[in-house]
Amino acid sequence: MIGGYRIERKLSAGGFGVVYLAVDKEGQQFAIKEYLPSSLASRAVGELLPQVLPEKLSLYRLGLKSFFEEGRSLAQISHGSVVSVLNFFRENETVYMVMNYLEGGTLQDFIITARDLKKPKVFRESTIRSLFDEILRGLRIVHQHKMLHLDIKPANIFITDDNRAVMIDFGAAREVLSKEGNFIRPMYTPGFAAPEMYRRDSSMGPWTDIYAIGACIYASMQGYPPNDAPQRTEKDRLSLALSRLRGVYSDNLIEVVQWCMALDPLARPQSVFALQKELSRESERRYTKLTVGERVRLQFDSVVSDTKKTSRKAHVSGTRFK
Ligand SMILES: Nc1ncnc2c1ncn2[C@@H]1O[C@H](COP(=O)(O)OP(=O)(O)O)[C@@H](O)[C@H]1O
Ligand SMILES: [Mg+2]
Repeated sequence: MIGGYRIERKLSAGGFGVVYLAVDKEGQQFAIKEYLPSSLASRAVGELLPQVLPEKLSLYRLGLKSFFEEGRSLAQISHGSVVSVLNFFRENETVYMVMNYLEGGTLQDFIITARDLKKPKVFRESTIRSLFDEILRGLRIVHQHKMLHLDIKPANIFITDDNRAVMIDFGAAREVLSKEGNFIRPMYTPGFAAPEMYRRDSSMGPWTDIYAIGACIYASMQGYPPNDAPQRTEKDRLSLALSRLRGVYSDNLIEVVQWCMALDPLARPQSVFALQKELSRESERRYTKLTVGERVRLQFDSVVSDTKKTSRKAHVSGTRFK
């Protein structure tokens, strides 16, 4: 029992904490995230209190404060596309954040399944547009609350069984709030982190999350993440990679990805609103005619895919969000 909730089982354990499935007295289910940074604290089997090495205590406490602030900030946001934080409290010398329990899987699970099935397309264009339209509605509210997510990636986008897209894991957001300059974990995920995140200067803003959104759309089209920002700065193959998708997805969607993923922050959409406007322009779709070479290559890819089809996880299909 923690704070009146009965812990049923562990849902996930990451570097920063543990997520549990819990129920309250009425039997309602919740997901509870516990602050337990593996690099700073450990906990023996059967114990409730974490053990923190004395030299790591100040960093542990700083992270704890930030985790608490994350809960406080998130609790103010009520939007269907942002995970709801219903309660947060201190106990056992750590902090617990009580969230709505979401049933479904992450966008990452869907992408991997589609990739394993060797589907020629991970998602249909209409699916991509409606999925990210939903996510952007939530992200706009987050930005209005002067928060940045800073770790948007397919693993942090949850797709529920009732077909909602929900952003989870605002762990990196607390960095902005606490401005203390101590980094507890590497905050960036290669492929999804904007170049300014590697610099850690003051140029982060809504456009930093927008870069990650572009990378998520890319992954939803290609089935794998784009090259990371340092690689791209060295030699940018984004246009080349995207050109393979011409004819499969509209030019407009490809341009949107290119716009979001501009290496120069100023060359990206500066606000979620600007991006939403472009993404909702479905009527303006144009498809480039493929060259013969491109046709052959696409055809060849689909032949290869057909022969390698597997049925693993076939029950999970990436064709929601019609
Ligand atoms: N509200 C929730 N409902 C259901 N599962 C959740 C919820 N929040 C997190 N999870 C599960 O826990 C995993 C890790 O959560 P996340 O917040 O991304 O933490 P981190 O990546 O920092 O470990 C998610 O991928 C998801 O499987
Ligand atoms: Mg996560």
